[in-house]
Amino acid sequence: MAQPRLLILGAPGAGKGTQSAKITEEFDIDHITTGDALRSNKGMDISEMETEYDTPGEYMDQGELVPDDVVNAIVDEALSQADGFVLDGYPRNLEQAEELEGMTDLDAALYLDVSDDELVHRLTGRRLDPETGDIYHVEYNPPEDPEVEARLEQRDDDTEATVNERLRVFKENTEPVIDHYDDEGLLERVDGEQAPEEVWEELRTTIENAT
Ligand code: AP5
Repeated sequence: MAQPRLLILGAPGAGKGTQSAKITEEFDIDHITTGDALRSNKGMDISEMETEYDTPGEYMDQGELVPDDVVNAIVDEALSQADGFVLDGYPRNLEQAEELEGMTDLDAALYLDVSDDELVHRLTGRRLDPETGDIYHVEYNPPEDPEVEARLEQRDDDTEATVNERLRVFKENTEPVIDHYDDEGLLERVDGEQAPEEVWEELRTTIENAT
């Protein structure tokens, strides 16, 4: 059986990273995440692309989208090395969706649907383990090991002001992408407001039925 080729879509904080970790383990496919790739290259000099800012980090810290040319190149390179994948954080606008159509076919676009109030609560309480990359939440999912708890970090763009800007950018740019995949018959809506294990059960069944 061919390996699944999946998108995971959702607002900032919808649980894309949390659920992608489970999907990649269960289906043995690559996790391609533009957010992580850009965070590893926050200081990269992109000035020769005639962009407004000189580095990806300047866009990210304000909650704005990094220019399409930078992100398209990251995804193109990653997809060329993957059979099955879950693509997390891309496409974020209709131009990127069009670009993706020239790179690969898809089995499904999974959309995690979560209300705005819950998104803000999740993002401002999110903490990351810099050693393992594991995602925690101060209230919903704190680590059991005090050593892990002591080293947790907050993402630079998880402040309330930046979170609100990221949500605005999502509504303006990415909601049309969700409508696009709905029109194409590829969209699978999942209730992302459930507990993580329940979201995972719904996602797993959805992926099995779509592939
Ligand atoms: P990116 O890193 O992609 O961030 P995002 O889309 O804003 O999404 P997040 O990673 O913040 O949230 P998530 O959905 O993964 O949630 P998580 O699982 O962590 O992008 C960052 C920036 O990079 C962008 O702003 C932009 O500047 C740039 N960028 C990236 N891609 C780009 C592109 N294609 N084009 C241009 N620019 C791009 O969960 C969140 C929290 O909730 C955690 O604490 C978790 O423990 C908790 N949680 C998860 N699920 C549940 C649940 N079911 N119940 C309770 N708590 C839960």
